[in-house]
Amino acid sequence: MQGLIADIDLLEEGKQQEESCEFKTTIDDDSKSKRKLYIESYGCQMNFSDSEIVTSILKKEGFGTTSSPEHADVILINTCSIREKAEQTVRNRLNFFNGVKKKNRDVTVGVLGCMAERLKSKLLEEEKIVDLVLGPDAYRDLPKLVKQAEEGQKGINTFLSREETYADISPVRLNSNGVSAFISIMRGCDNMCSFCVVPFTRGRERSRDPQSIVNEAIELFKNGYREVTLLGQNVDSYKWSAEENNKARLNKKEDVDIVTFANLIEMVAQIDPDLRVRFSTSHPKDITDDVLHTMKKYENICNYIHLPAQSGNSRVLELMNRTYSREWYIDRVDAIRDIIGDECGISSDMIAGFCSETEEEHKETISLMDYVKYDFSYMFFYSERPGTLAAKKYEDDIPLETKKRRLQEIIDKQQKISLERNKLDVGKNFKVLVEGTSKRSKAKMQGRNSANKVIIFDADVPKGTYVNVKVTDCTAATLFGELV
Ligand code: SAH
Ligand code: SF4
Ligand code: F3S
Repeated sequence: MQGLIADIDLLEEGKQQEESCEFKTTIDDDSKSKRKLYIESYGCQMNFSDSEIVTSILKKEGFGTTSSPEHADVILINTCSIREKAEQTVRNRLNFFNGVKKKNRDVTVGVLGCMAERLKSKLLEEEKIVDLVLGPDAYRDLPKLVKQAEEGQKGINTFLSREETYADISPVRLNSNGVSAFISIMRGCDNMCSFCVVPFTRGRERSRDPQSIVNEAIELFKNGYREVTLLGQNVDSYKWSAEENNKARLNKKEDVDIVTFANLIEMVAQIDPDLRVRFSTSHPKDITDDVLHTMKKYENICNYIHLPAQSGNSRVLELMNRTYSREWYIDRVDAIRDIIGDECGISSDMIAGFCSETEEEHKETISLMDYVKYDFSYMFFYSERPGTLAAKKYEDDIPLETKKRRLQEIIDKQQKISLERNKLDVGKNFKVLVEGTSKRSKAKMQGRNSANKVIIFDADVPKGTYVNVKVTDCTAATLFGELV
């Protein structure tokens, strides 16, 4: 689950995507609040979504937002630990904030998110400028810790919860286009992929009350939003039981007290046919035919699935502890093509050069890409993370040059397939949700079709409307079209 926007530029420029870090800063709100918050986010959409919760918590304490760290009273950096480079980026930013702090000693600097959780008090010791360290489940404690920091006392809370979902907190949308929004439906991860730090930084998996998810989506729709993306590390294992949560039955009509992911997307899809529903990330071991049938049943559930394979070789998948084989993965892709059809967009994450991966095994990743014909992929080389199962059990034995060469081969393959897939769309008409003006040219509009493909076209229509666009041309990253 990465930021969707910057990656398109990366692909178009042919750059390899070594790390997922991007950042967003908060907008200058026009409030007359005395105290200002500046927040920067790295990593996945879940982190961006958390920053919106954090902003909401501090807004209740009277904070306004600023887009400039120099004007802030509190600077927060919401961090990612997924690869070494992600952490390096954060350290560079902390150096920069050190400069800001030298000019303004009163500013409070806090580290949030996965790196805070992983490094805990080390961050306070190593990075002398840091006043606060808060893990992903500790954000309700922010007002208290900010206050303490302002009184000169450094604060830390990296407690991981089994229950916290921030269900009752209404996020403040940051840098949103006003059309698409993310809704966090669960937190944590109970899988133990051997390469991955997330189970350690985000804790146990827990699902959020479905009614609070539906209410958030209704509110967004009322405010003009036309697309929601339901977020979780493994959305297919979403499960909410009324009994376990000690709540009244939600779905009285059908007399059930368990809500599965298929039930949840149906509930959100029923809000309004003009509200598009997307979700990320689907885990190949858990995605059910039920989910695929529900997607087929509702036109407003988008035909797009992010289904990270990581590798195309069964032995490597086993070492990665992904708990599926190449054959299982292919069976799931076949089910998508059978139930939803060829037009369903599929994307993947791939890791090149995992421990002991042979040249033949690497080639199986390439051949899987040829089989599936991914529209898009996020591609990385393996980066050993301290404390993970792989770091404990396997040697990180593939030389960096080999990792990089294999990654480049995967990227080159994806570029070819993306272009091939996009060419199939030329001449076709698509229903497009208009997101605003194109990032490249203000004279053009940009939107997405159901399969999550970006389409650029000439028009003068308000964002948030649906238009029909005929595709006339394409690159590997973008479709170009005209209104019909
Ligand atoms: N929950 C999602 C993945 C979240 S992390 C899923 O299971 O698919 C996003 C991606 O980062 C992963 O899919 C993986 O491709 C990549 N990644 C995670 N740990 C990594 C590591 N140690 N080195 C390189 N890439 C990694
Ligand atoms: Fe990490 Fe695996 Fe969980 Fe994804 S499913 S967050 S890769 S442990
Ligand atoms: Fe996301 Fe990075 Fe944490 S990918 S869950 S912010 S380690």
